[in-house]
Amino acid sequence: MKMPRPSPAPLLLSAISLLVLAWPASCAHPVLIPVAKDPATSLYTILVRDGANHLVDLAGPLLWSTCAADHSPAAFSCNATECRHATAYRAPSCRIAGQPCKKKCKAYPYNPITGQCAAADLIHTRLIASTTDGKNPLQQVSVRAVAACATGNILASLPADVTGVAGLSASGLALPALIAANHRVARKFLLCLPRRGEGVAIFGGGPLFLLPQSDVGDLTTTLAFTALRSRKDNPLYYIPVNSIAVNKAPVPLPAHALAGGGVVLCSRVAFTALRPDVYRPFVDAFDRALARNDAKVPAVAPFELCYRSSMLGNTRNGYAVPDIALVLEGGKSWTFVGSNSMVDVNGQTACFAFVEMKGVKSGDPSAAAAVIGGFQMENHLLQFDLESKQLGFAKVPFFSACSNFNFTKSQH
Ligand SMILES: *[C@@H]1O[C@H](CO)[C@@H](O)[C@H](O)[C@H]1NC(C)=O
Ligand SMILES: *[C@@H]1O[C@H](CO)[C@@H](O)[C@H](O)[C@H]1NC(C)=O
Repeated sequence: MKMPRPSPAPLLLSAISLLVLAWPASCAHPVLIPVAKDPATSLYTILVRDGANHLVDLAGPLLWSTCAADHSPAAFSCNATECRHATAYRAPSCRIAGQPCKKKCKAYPYNPITGQCAAADLIHTRLIASTTDGKNPLQQVSVRAVAACATGNILASLPADVTGVAGLSASGLALPALIAANHRVARKFLLCLPRRGEGVAIFGGGPLFLLPQSDVGDLTTTLAFTALRSRKDNPLYYIPVNSIAVNKAPVPLPAHALAGGGVVLCSRVAFTALRPDVYRPFVDAFDRALARNDAKVPAVAPFELCYRSSMLGNTRNGYAVPDIALVLEGGKSWTFVGSNSMVDVNGQTACFAFVEMKGVKSGDPSAAAAVIGGFQMENHLLQFDLESKQLGFAKVPFFSACSNFNFTKSQH
């Protein structure tokens, strides 16, 4: 009697499950990369290799830099997955990015500050970083990555020591996906932007401990969550904001003002920018709630409400001013106290650190209603979970700061 031929399916399945068993999705320690603030531009930079500083761009879809001459371009075909990821988003000002791919894949690195772009080859590269247990760096790791190689002439207006841009968006060739794919960690990252000094980005998730040691312990246990949304045709991170409150009182905004253009997180603007129809009632509400006309001084551009700083009260959370809260879908609020709502523009003057969007019409739904900028995100721990599509947020306790990570290498 002939033996029935074994169907190939069980073999194939067991091969796959062996693979899965051998390499569980997240067996590796998360990857730590320091993030610094450039004092001259108020932009943030990330050291993805020794000596290769990149601009942090939460909305960036690529990792790109000016490459050493000895980099050999990799031959990615037009239909390679990497090529699809590289061309998934086209920056509005980048007209050349519309050209069809012929033979070899082209990426279009984009300078988010000047809007310049250029055609570039994709290359294989390596990121040099450390693994972390959330308390210290552990071991140096070299993580494979695919990057675009641009010529130096598109670096204008970026911080002086920067040689490229590190995109942190949810797209397939941005740092979170690159590190998840090549270092086998979850597609999520923590971002703690410093006011000064060095903060951290941790790819793969928590825990995160900052000095001094305290009862708070792992700061990821203090996160509150809201949805992390995306929209077609752009790689921006959106959060669902239902209303804005000043000292817990909702600011009277035009109907659907926030929903139309949405609220985005953007590390490339220094201060939160609001569309005129949102800006005016918001600034007026803050002015009324603070009620300190006696301390007011002439405006210092780009800000409107400025005060003699010696006349404002101080708290351990910065100037004693009304709280600002983004009231989120799901009921949680993301609150900003004086340390994130008032900026010292000189030794005597502190200004309300929100600006009006320029060149945008009131209510235009094609423009974001609010762009949350770096100053507001600083010393907040943010967790971008691209798998569960959740944003976690928490203010770092007043006695610590994002620049208080212990960068001393652990002995074990
Ligand atoms: C990509 O295109 C080439 C021809 O240009 C073809 O030979 C190859 O099979 C395609 N690969 C995939 C993954 O579709
Ligand atoms: C920083 O980490 C090192 C290595 O684990 C440790 O020896 C040192 O005590 C830590 N520093 C502080 C201030 O806790």
